[in-house]
Amino acid sequence: TNPITTLSLRKMKAEGIKFVTVALYDAPMAAMARKCGVEVVLIGDSLGMTVLGYDSTIPVTMEQMIYHVEAVKRGNNKSLIMGDLPFMTYATPEQAMENATRIMQAGAQMVKIEGGAWLAPTVQMLSERGIPVCAHLGLTPQSVNKLGGFRVQGRSEEQANQILADAQALDEAGADLLVLECVPSELARRITESVSMPTIGIGAGQHTDAQVLVINDILGLTEQPPKFSKNFLVEAEDIPGAMRKYVSDVKNGVFPDQEHTFG
Ligand code: KIV
Ligand code: NA
Repeated sequence: TNPITTLSLRKMKAEGIKFVTVALYDAPMAAMARKCGVEVVLIGDSLGMTVLGYDSTIPVTMEQMIYHVEAVKRGNNKSLIMGDLPFMTYATPEQAMENATRIMQAGAQMVKIEGGAWLAPTVQMLSERGIPVCAHLGLTPQSVNKLGGFRVQGRSEEQANQILADAQALDEAGADLLVLECVPSELARRITESVSMPTIGIGAGQHTDAQVLVINDILGLTEQPPKFSKNFLVEAEDIPGAMRKYVSDVKNGVFPDQEHTFG
């Protein structure tokens, strides 16, 4: 049981095998993800909302991210461990390098940052120095105030073309993964076909190379769950059963269905 790497994920994309990501925050959930065959574990800055009770990800600090990356790492030595860089910790490439270093030293094997082509120099700088980067386009929650709310992105032709161009720029800069959040299914398909890095969708339809959900949504802990998420505990006997169902539904192309997709 070799650990999952950037290479394993690119191989899965090439072979058309879907992989699974879960955003989670602690050691027992990380251990369960390992047992359920989850390829990528994300310590998301969503922890500001799902664990700490804030109404956005903006208050999240480096110290909080490091605390949770360390906990997750202790629970899982098989999945690829990816940590978010929180709000305004990568405003310049130099800042990104410093803060990504801290996330890597806490146990992550990849960092995730939100934004378009303006991040290409940052992606290149981190990649050249040995830090794999996951880009994040579409609904980028750290920009909620600029976007005017948690809304689907890329509905107009102009916006869709912009997101596609951003994806291509980040791919060329050396990004190893791309999260696409809340974009129409057709746009996610176009992007997935036109970049070399694997894509991970959340509210992006079934044509991405992988899917990600937040553990709180999988387990029905979210008060007002987003349209694209699904409570898998309803159809399961226990928490590990819910995670196994999520994993198998993604791998078999059963989730996401139309009901959990934006057209
Ligand atoms: O913070 C997070 O959990 C995320 C995923 C939803 C992609 O960024
Ligand atoms: Na995040």
